[in-house]
Amino acid sequence: MGKFIIVDHPLIKHKLTNIRKKETKTKDFYENVQEIGSLMAYEISRDFPLRDVEIETPICKTVQKELAQEIVIVPILRAGLGMVDGIRSMIPSAKVGFIGMYRDETTLVPVEYYAKFPNDVTSSIVLLVDPMLATGGSAIAAVTNLKARGVKNIKYVGLVAAPEGVKALQKAHPDVDIYTASLDERLNEDGYIIPGLGDCGDRLFGTK
Ligand code: PRP
Ligand code: URA
Repeated sequence: MGKFIIVDHPLIKHKLTNIRKKETKTKDFYENVQEIGSLMAYEISRDFPLRDVEIETPICKTVQKELAQEIVIVPILRAGLGMVDGIRSMIPSAKVGFIGMYRDETTLVPVEYYAKFPNDVTSSIVLLVDPMLATGGSAIAAVTNLKARGVKNIKYVGLVAAPEGVKALQKAHPDVDIYTASLDERLNEDGYIIPGLGDCGDRLFGTK
């Protein structure tokens, strides 16, 4: 079974409270999501493999460490985009791929409408980014899509997860590590997370 990690840090908790407040406006909402993304990058990258590299300091030659594997950030459009720049600020060498997916509002079944990945995605560590893990349908479909393209090393990164979504993702893809800033109580009858933060895509991009 992959890891399930709630990234627990006072700054993350504080910023998460900011974005849960219904009065928080688009600009502040977006900035706080980016900042949580950067803070989470530290924990997500904890077990990234390193390799030796010979370099020269102003004083002498020395063998030091550098990241051994390419990192690809794959946001699920739209809401996943909100965390990309924050993670990139910590891992600037990361490449970015995209999966577009929306939940059919009546059936809650995810529908894929776009996919574009860097060429070397199969040998990379893929950070699949989507702030909300509700029923888990979108994340499960995105992981299935990535695996069908040959990706082996996938970590899901989100902000707010419902227990139902965590369970479903673990069941469908037990090899995927799950990182979230919060594990909330449950889903409501419309598939929204309680207490959650509402519709993340709309709040990030001001569409409602
Ligand atoms: C939201 C969210 C996730 C999905 C989570 O996307 O960004 O992708 O719902 O729900 P699930 O776990 O039940 O699949 P939405 O369909 O609202 O699209 P958007 O990002 O374009 O707003
Ligand atoms: N997607 C969201 O944006 N919010 C939820 O609470 C559930 C799914």
